[in-house]
Amino acid sequence: MTTIAVTGGSGNLGRATIQFLAKRKVPPASIVLVVRDPSKVQDLAAQGFQVRQGDYTDAASLLKSFQGVDKILFVSTSALGEERMRHHRNVVEAARAASVQHILYTSVVKPAAAALFAATPGHFQTEALIRDSGVPYTFFRNNLYMDLIPLLYAGAVESGVLLSCAGQGRVGFVARADIAEALAAALTSDQLRSDYNITTSRPAYSLAEVAAALGKARGKTINYVSVPANEFRQTLEGFRLPNGVIEFSVALGEAMRAGEFDIASNDLRELLGRAPVELESFLAAGPG
Ligand SMILES: NC(=O)c1ccc[n+]([C@@H]2O[C@H](COP(=O)([O-])OP(=O)(O)OC[C@H]3O[C@@H](n4cnc5c(N)ncnc54)[C@H](OP(=O)(O)O)[C@@H]3O)[C@@H](O)[C@H]2O)c1
Repeated sequence: MTTIAVTGGSGNLGRATIQFLAKRKVPPASIVLVVRDPSKVQDLAAQGFQVRQGDYTDAASLLKSFQGVDKILFVSTSALGEERMRHHRNVVEAARAASVQHILYTSVVKPAAAALFAATPGHFQTEALIRDSGVPYTFFRNNLYMDLIPLLYAGAVESGVLLSCAGQGRVGFVARADIAEALAAALTSDQLRSDYNITTSRPAYSLAEVAAALGKARGKTINYVSVPANEFRQTLEGFRLPNGVIEFSVALGEAMRAGEFDIASNDLRELLGRAPVELESFLAAGPG
């Protein structure tokens, strides 16, 4: 029986993937949740999943967690900056030392050494680390989650204006649940490619389409307005948002404008065996 370890097993993507693995009749006892705090997954332990304590900051705990594991779903850390790469180095080194046979890593679309989206260079470096480790691998190059839209553009619902500096930039938003379902398909396949573009199979969405879909779902008219980055920053400063949120929003808009998320592919569609969930139906099904 193949033993699959899932890092980030307490997070949204890890939890959802485990449930799709169970739907595929993978026995819970053959799935190892690697979590820094086992108390967060008591519900999953009660369902029969193995739980092992493993912290991305603690290489020894990861090595112990990966003993006897065949495949790892390596969910990228939620930490940012230098800390992020320290976590990822520990995971890859532990996987190599534990003689794991395959790493499936959640990367980003269009990985590049330099990018406006802050997470992209770290994903690029992590892909290189995994390639250099000698452990066979698959990269799931995920586009932005649709699930972020109500959070990113909450103000748009109130004001009727979705303001950004993204210009004509397009994003191939995908539902996180679709990524999880595709991960479960990949983890149970023995014919994996080295990389998949996990994105829309239709053309990526413009922010005008996002505004229209959000408006339709909330019963309001929402118009997309794009302004230069400086003007966008000044507007956000006027709302007294935390500096980190302002800089993240501006950089995200600039990354969208530069086309860093503008990619369509049939990879997700093929893994799912159906079309990925579209934005309008996703938002219509969400909380009002
Ligand atoms: N494509 C996108 O739009 C998008 C958006 C957001 C994030 N992401 C990336 O995709 C990943 C998965 O997304 P998600 O929605 O599942 O995020 P999430 O719910 O925040 O889950 C992140 C997971 O990483 C774990 N983690 C963080 N630091 C750790 C550490 N030191 N040791 C062990 N585990 C640690 C968390 O554990 P705890 O439960 O203990 O915190 C959690 O299980 C994120 O971590 C992030 O890298 C992608």
